Amino acid sequence: MDIRMLVSGRRVRKWHFLQLCATCFILSLMVFWEPFNNHIVSHMKSYSYRYLINSYNFVNESLSLKHSEDGATRYQYLINHREKCHAQDVLLLLFVKTAPENHARRSAIRKTWGNEKYVRSELNANIKTLFALGAPSSPLTREALQRRLFEEDQVYNDIIQQDFADSFYNLTLKLLMQFSWANTFCSHAKFLMTADDDIFIHMPNLIEYLQGLEQIGVQDFWIGRVHRGAPPVRNKHSKYYVSYEMYQWPAYPDYTAGAAYVISNDVAAKVYEASQTLNSSLYIDDVFMGLCANKMGIVPQYHVFFSGEGKAPYHPCIYDKMMTSHGHVQDLQDLWEDATDPEVKTVSKGFIGQIYCRIVKIFYLCRLTYVDTYPCRAAFV
Ligand SMILES: *[C@@H]1O[C@H](CO)[C@@H](O)[C@H](O)[C@H]1NC(C)=O
Ligand SMILES: *[C@@H]1O[C@H](CO)[C@@H](O)[C@H](O)[C@H]1NC(C)=O
Ligand SMILES: *[C@@H]1O[C@H](CO)[C@@H](O)[C@H](O)[C@H]1NC(C)=O
Repeated sequence: MDIRMLVSGRRVRKWHFLQLCATCFILSLMVFWEPFNNHIVSHMKSYSYRYLINSYNFVNESLSLKHSEDGATRYQYLINHREKCHAQDVLLLLFVKTAPENHARRSAIRKTWGNEKYVRSELNANIKTLFALGAPSSPLTREALQRRLFEEDQVYNDIIQQDFADSFYNLTLKLLMQFSWANTFCSHAKFLMTADDDIFIHMPNLIEYLQGLEQIGVQDFWIGRVHRGAPPVRNKHSKYYVSYEMYQWPAYPDYTAGAAYVISNDVAAKVYEASQTLNSSLYIDDVFMGLCANKMGIVPQYHVFFSGEGKAPYHPCIYDKMMTSHGHVQDLQDLWEDATDPEVKTVSKGFIGQIYCRIVKIFYLCRLTYVDTYPCRAAFV
């Protein structure tokens, strides 16, 4: 039997036929290559899945809670500030995911990109910064750490904390806390951002960008560094290991890296709604966010100046456009001063300035050796 005859006889377009072949090929890969389930194969499978099959409608059915009591395992607030958002127009509600022992990081963030007063006076916008925490988990230090957290919060009034154990494998609980807090106490904030405590955010650039979006009344907005067709890690020794029981498909729906992303308030409401109906045992919080958004039909947009795992190059031409950069703890204060210096904006001014900065960006971003910062195409925007 000649399958090609059959197909053309039915006037299936050539492209569909190719797609069919590719699908068969992938399915056979999945079946026969299972023993060779290494890095390359899993990426091949996931990309093929993403670009050829690409129907993530399973999210709605199979990951939904079978019985509704699981999502209702409510944790209590140990520290909360219900009144934090009472100001009328809040442009951005900014959550910083942090751990109980990271006092120094929080302190640095309060002096730099998380500083509400700076944003108010220098950028003419209202933001609300909240540090999101679980409870200290080590029995030895628990009480002392918690006491210190209460004291810290007395001074700054910017911590929210629930009584789940703060750990990597509870990040999804932390995310649920943020969604729930935003929905209950701050649903009028125009945008919501969630960020790690070891990143740098270029607030002047970000605020200017968000103000522009607010003016055009943007909706369905979700931006960050997008992971497309990322495969679940099946290596049991990895920190990111996800069992087939938890997630059985070869690729995750598209999602933004959890280090930093921004959503509009309509998305925050929808995602919160979805989060109430999905099984939250998947502990990788940004993937879980992707599943919630997928369920509501929301797709992420890639912003080339949201960085990956790597640090952005230190250069005024980069600062001119940067939104976030990852891995800044020791150098946060210096970077903040350099990157937000008004002089930065003059570097790329004029014809010569533009050419100069284009060359600098190509030099830093379009290298052959891969550094996970901004993609090469960021040099051309
Ligand atoms: C997550 O938090 C819950 C509630 O405190 C705790 O029972 C559980 O052990 C934590 N999970 C991990 C992996 O830390
Ligand atoms: C959620 O998924 C896990 C598997 O990852 C399963 O053990 C658990 O029973 C599910 N919970 C509900 C309420 O469906
Ligand atoms: C998800 O599935 C339910 C039925 O199980 C349906 O009522 C609902 O509209 C679906 N949601 C979306 C966003 O497709």
